Amino acid sequence: MTHAERQAALEVIASEVRTCTRCRLADGRTHAVPGEGSPDTEVVLVGEGPGYHEDRTGRPFVGRAGGVLQELLESIEWRRRDVFITNVVKCRPPDNRDPEPDEIAACAPYLERQLTVLDPALVVTLGRFSLGTFVPGTRISQVHGTIHPVDPASGARDASVLALYHPAAADRSADVKRQSFDDVARAPQALLDARARRATKPVAVSAAPPPVDPAPTPAADITIF
Ligand code: URA
Ligand code: SF4
Repeated sequence: MTHAERQAALEVIASEVRTCTRCRLADGRTHAVPGEGSPDTEVVLVGEGPGYHEDRTGRPFVGRAGGVLQELLESIEWRRRDVFITNVVKCRPPDNRDPEPDEIAACAPYLERQLTVLDPALVVTLGRFSLGTFVPGTRISQVHGTIHPVDPASGARDASVLALYHPAAADRSADVKRQSFDDVARAPQALLDARARRATKPVAVSAAPPPVDPAPTPAADITIF
């Protein structure tokens, strides 16, 4: 897919999300929050669901947790605009309660489609609901800071998953915050490793043989990566 095709496909998904009524979370929302970022990225960050400020603005991670996320990204010299940031559920649960299983299931096709379009090499999960989507059956307290193969049912074809605590948890606890800086520091190497692995495994969907000397992807030109 070209840049323009990815951008258009993501915009189709976003516009469906903005008017979606597939679950009860539609009732209390001000704005649905489809997610945002670079259509050419190799890195997708996935949180839990919008909070107050996200619901007000329609943008992911713009409140306190967003401030922590920004600090984490800055610590590895990555920028928000070079990654894609979204959530497991796209509408704010009332009073910031946990999303319920049927809400997560109702919303999953949007995340799955975003991941199919983006085909990231690295997925960074933020918190336990995101972890549960990408690496089912694990506990955040045991796997934070570690790399796992993605569950392809998530929509990501061939990604490594780096598990992070939720930035809101880091905001509440100095220990969790320190740990989160250590954990996110593993992201750049995880991306390099995932890139190398994917380069030896051409996509099987094309009828044409893989080019001998493939042109660099647009994301390879981004200096921070
Ligand atoms: N917390 C989340 O999980 N996602 C957001 O977008 C903001 C806060
Ligand atoms: Fe639709 Fe997801 Fe919002 Fe539920 S949370 S209404 S499934 S966009």
